[in-house]
Amino acid sequence: MVHFSSLVMAFFLFLFSFSCITLTNASATKVVDVDTICKEVTNSSFCSSLIKSNPGGGADLLNLTQYTIDVVRTNVSNTINLINTLIAQSDNNMEAKYHYQRCLYYFGKDEGALHEVVDAQEYLKNGDYEGVNECAKGIMVYVEKCISGDDEGDSYSDTSLLPKYADVVENVAEIIFHISNYLVHV
Ligand SMILES: *[C@@H]1O[C@H](CO)[C@@H](O)[C@H](O)[C@H]1NC(C)=O
Ligand SMILES: *[C@@H]1O[C@H](CO)[C@@H](O)[C@H](O)[C@H]1NC(C)=O
Ligand SMILES: *[C@@H]1O[C@H](CO)[C@@H](O)[C@H](O)[C@H]1NC(C)=O
Repeated sequence: MVHFSSLVMAFFLFLFSFSCITLTNASATKVVDVDTICKEVTNSSFCSSLIKSNPGGGADLLNLTQYTIDVVRTNVSNTINLINTLIAQSDNNMEAKYHYQRCLYYFGKDEGALHEVVDAQEYLKNGDYEGVNECAKGIMVYVEKCISGDDEGDSYSDTSLLPKYADVVENVAEIIFHISNYLVHV
């Protein structure tokens, strides 16, 4: 009897240590295949070339999340600069000027995409991947309001470079959205 229970005990100790090792490995590496991420996004060729441009590669999800947040920050700043130029050039076109001013608000740091980027950075630093995920979604929502129109009646047919820049921002944000989803669930 004594012999039997110590065997059972040893068995459970074995299971316990095994599961601890598994958990430690999972949280330390957080590895996922690049193709797995990129087949879930709208523009998968954009996705794979972005991940390949990361000097740290795609394997380490935390490194990749930081990299993609850095990229989207650059892309949002570039877009804001472009919008400011477009505003300055649209003095004779009130409809255009109104549209670009709405877009400046949606990309801005007060309540728009840049604000979400700053928050995402903070959430990542604190290990709050759900927060990063929410911010990525927020960026996509703001970009859509600029491009597809908002409930303030702004739906300008834009022939400038802005839709192209906005598309890049939205694509990168979508990648961050999926990577942070993995971070939440790994
Ligand atoms: C994917 O993104 C690239 C780079 O922005 C763009 O040239 C291409 O047209 C996009 N493809 C699709 C299907 O949206
Ligand atoms: C990711 O890792 C690579 C290689 O270790 C490093 O060069 C790079 O700076 C890291 N990127 C970020 C954003 O931390
Ligand atoms: C987006 O950022 C990347 C990396 O910083 C840069 O190579 C690319 O030209 C940027 N694109 C736009 C439209 O800002």
